[in-house]
Amino acid sequence: MEKLYLSLVLLFVFLVSLSFFVVFYRLRCPLTDPNLPPGKMGFPVIGESLEFLSSGWKGVPEKFFNDRMAKYCSPVFKTCIFGEPAVIFCGPACNKFLFSNENKLVRPWWPQTVNKIFPTSLQTNPDTEAKKLRHMLPHFLTAQALQRYIPIMDSIAQRHFALEWDHNTLVTVSPLAKRYTFWVASRLFMNVDDPKQVAKLGEPFNDVALGIISMPIDLPGTAFNRGIKASKFIRGELLRIIKQRKGELANGSATQTQDIMSHMLSYTDEDGQYMTEQDIADKILGLLIGGHDTASSACTFVVKYLAELPPNIYHNVYQEQMAIAKSKAPGEFLNWDDIQKMKYSWNVACEVMRLSPPLQGAFREAITDFIFNGFSIPKGWKLYWSASSTHRNPEYFEEAEKFDPNRFEGTGPAPFSYVPFGGGPRMCPGKEYARMEILVFMHNLVKRFKWETLIPNENITFNPLPIPAKGLPIRLIPHQPSK
Ligand code: HEM
Repeated sequence: MEKLYLSLVLLFVFLVSLSFFVVFYRLRCPLTDPNLPPGKMGFPVIGESLEFLSSGWKGVPEKFFNDRMAKYCSPVFKTCIFGEPAVIFCGPACNKFLFSNENKLVRPWWPQTVNKIFPTSLQTNPDTEAKKLRHMLPHFLTAQALQRYIPIMDSIAQRHFALEWDHNTLVTVSPLAKRYTFWVASRLFMNVDDPKQVAKLGEPFNDVALGIISMPIDLPGTAFNRGIKASKFIRGELLRIIKQRKGELANGSATQTQDIMSHMLSYTDEDGQYMTEQDIADKILGLLIGGHDTASSACTFVVKYLAELPPNIYHNVYQEQMAIAKSKAPGEFLNWDDIQKMKYSWNVACEVMRLSPPLQGAFREAITDFIFNGFSIPKGWKLYWSASSTHRNPEYFEEAEKFDPNRFEGTGPAPFSYVPFGGGPRMCPGKEYARMEILVFMHNLVKRFKWETLIPNENITFNPLPIPAKGLPIRLIPHQPSK
């Protein structure tokens, strides 16, 4: 269905856009400026979107960047994606420039698909809303709060493994990792803990993710249409939970600090205004999307790499985790000190995110005309930084294709070359939360099992986050109980 629509739309776009071609480029792309970065604008309107998206669908998102960097001999090149003239910034110097000029020369920007799937209920722009969320999040992610989350994460991990892994020999990792991170997020963001309720809320998230990277064709049966419907459904469920929580706060059966939902219900801005229920639902939806799929992608790739790498890497992780497991009293959950001892395991997770970063990059928009590397960047053009253009580049990582957790010893990679969490003022505020969640997952996994993958060299696809095409089926080999 989607392919049929796509062909029709492409034909339509081709015919109609020819007539708009001159107007479009005169208005949107001052292509006559000889100082623009090198590059091609591709077809009218759709530009190089299909090449950009299809390199991800084929599992090699870096190809789009590497081919063009090589062709134009430049880490900065122009293109046209998602109907917008854009400049791609590759490499640490470009990352540094973008991250250091946040709100001075550039601001965040999301493609139309994102704005349609997450329409903000407020008459502001997504940037204003992101700033508000950023302002509020630290209350929920203070060191003190994070320390409280570790035993909760561990208790959820233990229940998750008991329900989904312990009685099985064959499991498919990607959906399980998503259920784990979604359960943690549901519990910590809004105190939803019942696995059935968590599953009901979690199911539509796949459609939301697929809608974000689809062609923006809002017709029945398209991924974009399913994404919009799924987002509406989740928002409805969230509103129901918010109303119930309001009642609980009023009758004293919930506290203002118990989770992010209560916190948002009690939060007032500088004018003393409370957030509306709709606004809270929007923010929690954004957090659930940003916070659970990214971490589950990292967990899935940890499982994949540990199965496929030389056994000493698994062995070192196992030794580290078992030393911690043996130090615990029966029934005692992991705590902050335990997480600090998981140094080697975190180096492994970091190396996994270097080779398979959950987020490939992000967009910005030029607030004003400016010059970078001698090239003119026009106001309004979209800019994109990409993790994969540095993470696998031998200029910045010796033997870049080799899995080597020791790269993260000492001071680690050079600044702005390792950017799975972005950088500058918009660096991921959930980084420490994600670290704890991934390490708790690794602890519970290696303490129970060794495993082997069932599909050698399984293809990787992007939805928009990387996942093994068949979800990473594995055979579990439980450890023998020690006598
Ligand atoms: C392995 C897991 C994660 C990865 C790889 C990741 C990656 C990123 C990246 C690269 C950005 C910056 C995007 C940009 O430059 O525009 C970002 C932003 C963000 N992340 Fe994460 N993230 C992860 C987990 C989380 C979690 C668990 C949460 C919530 C608890 C979260 C909440 C956010 C938010 C709210 C932003 C937007 C910040 C802003 O716009 O100022 N992330 N994340």
